[in-house]
Amino acid sequence: MLLIKNIRLLAGILPAGVTKLAGADMARLETISDAWLTVGDDGRIAAFGPADTMPAESGYARVYDAGGCIVTPTFVDSHTHLVFAASRQGEFVDRLRGLSYAEIAARGGGILCSADRLNAMTEDELFNSSLHRLQQVAACGTGAIEIKSGYALTLEGELKMLRVIRRLKQAMPGMTIVATFLGAHAVGRAYAGRQDDYVQHVIDDMLPAVAAEGLADYVDVFCEQGFFTVEQTERIAAAAHLHGLSVRLHANQLHTSGGVEIGVKAGAHSVDHLESAGDAQIELLARNTDTIPTALPGASFFLREPYAPARKLIDAGCALAMASDFNPGTSPTGDMRFIWSLGCISMRLLPAEALNAVTINSAAALRLADQYGSITPGKWASLIFYHPDVPDIDYIPYAFTHPSIDRVMLKGEFTTR
Ligand code: NIG
Ligand code: FE
Repeated sequence: MLLIKNIRLLAGILPAGVTKLAGADMARLETISDAWLTVGDDGRIAAFGPADTMPAESGYARVYDAGGCIVTPTFVDSHTHLVFAASRQGEFVDRLRGLSYAEIAARGGGILCSADRLNAMTEDELFNSSLHRLQQVAACGTGAIEIKSGYALTLEGELKMLRVIRRLKQAMPGMTIVATFLGAHAVGRAYAGRQDDYVQHVIDDMLPAVAAEGLADYVDVFCEQGFFTVEQTERIAAAAHLHGLSVRLHANQLHTSGGVEIGVKAGAHSVDHLESAGDAQIELLARNTDTIPTALPGASFFLREPYAPARKLIDAGCALAMASDFNPGTSPTGDMRFIWSLGCISMRLLPAEALNAVTINSAAALRLADQYGSITPGKWASLIFYHPDVPDIDYIPYAFTHPSIDRVMLKGEFTTR
């Protein structure tokens, strides 16, 4: 057993059984000043409390002095494309010169360019570069993460990506990884001009192979003008269900795509992006609370496009989540602390609301809220220890480039030092 003492502020405490925070409750952030916390040998939170209730140190094999710092749960990043071949800063410069994301995609850049590079790589090369990135996001405070395929768009390449994700799970057991098959991210080159045939290939060939190897927990579709239609999304979602897989969607990023409606209808665990969601979609999500609306403000920031109506979603009573969308084309960062800041700075969330969006509610989006997202006995002791110079919680999203994070613990073990 490990005893952590001298925590100046323990934040993000929730009773067991709370699976998400919705509407006005998102501003709730329970804390204990001058706290201690114990971690069982199983890596889970055993107990915690204020200093005057601290158990005797002699009863613990290990005692760690937190040095008077703030401690929160680790972030849950519920939407990433962390397995990718290479960065795409050339397109970044092209956009600075005036081209749009859609124009770059139309002339063969974007997702298809990533796919060419990934299909040319060996599984080992892809694994090594992805593991490096995973270690970096862990150091930034992410304790559980969803990773999508969708940068191969060929049967073999998609399986290669998902096998890499499976190897990442084995290589980093302290990180919980959820795998999502996103074969319908774009139409693979071999199917250019034959979009329906590609959808059939996803349904008839890719999905069964993915399911047979047990490589994915979820199926995702980029439901968007120029990518996949509502009808195609519905067919892929139905096929996913036949294979026992749940659905999450890229919805309403560039247009009012119908993605939210089909997501709700298909029982999607989350609908992500939502930059183009209007009042009708917000009302629908407020009534259908099993589908977690997820904002990806890193993509809006990077593409200089509108942000999801996060404030309106919360005010309508939704349990809003936020995630990084870490990918080389539209959000080249997996730093969830920056996403927390962007939630406040660009979408006017309060620090507590934005923190809940990147912890308990993003855990809910992955159906991991019984394991992650709060300081609760029985959940993983996956914790962020901030620098002692961080004065309070509000300072963390406010000082958006300050290196606030000192150490990260995953399942009871420190990742560094
Ligand atoms: O989530 N929207 C679709 N897919 C990614 C971007 C992919 C890329 O440009 O490589 C996203 O933003
Ligand atoms: Fe994405």
